[in-house]
Amino acid sequence: MLKASGESFAKIILIGEHAVVYGQPAIALPVKSIKLTATLIPRADQQQLIASTFYHGPLAAANTSNFAGIAHLLRALLTFFGAQQQGFDLKIVSDLPPERGMGSSAATATAVVRAMYQAFAVPLPHATLLRWTAISEKLLHGNPSGLDAATTSAQRPQWFVKHQAPHAIAFPSNGTLVIADTGVAGQTKQAVAAVAARLNADPNRYQPKITAIGQAVRQAAIALADDQLCALGQQLNVAQTQLAALGVSTPALDHLIQAAQAAGALGAKLTGSGLGGCMIALAKDHAAAQAIAQALTEAGASAVWQYDFAQSEEHS
Ligand code: MEV
Repeated sequence: MLKASGESFAKIILIGEHAVVYGQPAIALPVKSIKLTATLIPRADQQQLIASTFYHGPLAAANTSNFAGIAHLLRALLTFFGAQQQGFDLKIVSDLPPERGMGSSAATATAVVRAMYQAFAVPLPHATLLRWTAISEKLLHGNPSGLDAATTSAQRPQWFVKHQAPHAIAFPSNGTLVIADTGVAGQTKQAVAAVAARLNADPNRYQPKITAIGQAVRQAAIALADDQLCALGQQLNVAQTQLAALGVSTPALDHLIQAAQAAGALGAKLTGSGLGGCMIALAKDHAAAQAIAQALTEAGASAVWQYDFAQSEEHS
C-alpha cells in the first residue's frame, strides 16, 4: 500500500430528487468549493485506524457507528485488494455538513474508493467507482438511485437516470443558486422509505406526483439549454409543490423557501431527501443572490452558500 488520497465534492440536486428513485431523470451539480478528502497512510503494524467527524477509532469497532456503511465498503475494498491485514491510518477531512442533503455519505465513499485504488496503484474506471459507492449507499439509504455518488464524483453538472451512465449537462453562464441549511439533520433513509410507503399505499394519488417531477426535470433541462432562468425557476417551484405533496418538505424548509421567494428568487425548493437539510433558491444574478442570501440568514438559516452557474464550467 502506498500513501494516497482521494477527493470528492458536495452535491446539490437542482431538480428530480425522490422521483429519480423511480426511474425519472434528475439534474445535480458538484459544488467544488465544498470538498472532502480521504487520505490513506500505510502503517508498519496491523492497526486500521479511522479519523473522521463521523467516527474516530479502529475499523473493527465501527460497525455500530454511523460510519458502518463506509466501514463495510472499506472491508470489501481491502478484501478485493487482498490486504485484509494491512495496517493504515485513514483520515477524512470534510467541509460538507453531514445529513444536510449535500451527499456527505456518497462523497466519503467516493473519496475512500479513489484513495484505495490510488494506494494500490490500480486505475479506477468511473463505472467501477460508482459500483463500489453503491455498497455503502445501499447500507445507509436502503434504496439509493446512485445520483449522490454520481454527482459527488463528477466535475460538472450531471443529467442522471438510474441504471444509466450519467452525463454532463451544460448550465447557462448567468444565474446563481443560493443554498441554505435549515440546521436540522435530514433523514435520507426515512424520507425515501416514507415516499415508498405512500406510493405503495395509494399509487393513484402519488404516482402522478413522481411523473410530474420527471416532467419538471425535462422542462428544466430545456430551460437550461435555452438560457431561460425564469422558466427554470418555475420548474423548481413545480418540483417543490410535488415534493411537499409527497410529504418530504417541513415547516422549516417551507419557511426558508417562502423567505427566498419574498426576496425575489425565481424559484425555490428543498434539495436532497428533505425532512430537514437544505433548500435552494435561484437568483437571476450575483447581486440578486446577495439579497436572497441575506433574507435567508435573517429567516434563520444556519448556513448559506452561493453557487454561480459560471462555476459549473470551470475545471479544477
Ligand atoms: C438524496 O440525496 C436523493 C434522493 O433522491 C434519494 C436517491 O436518489 O437515492 C432522495
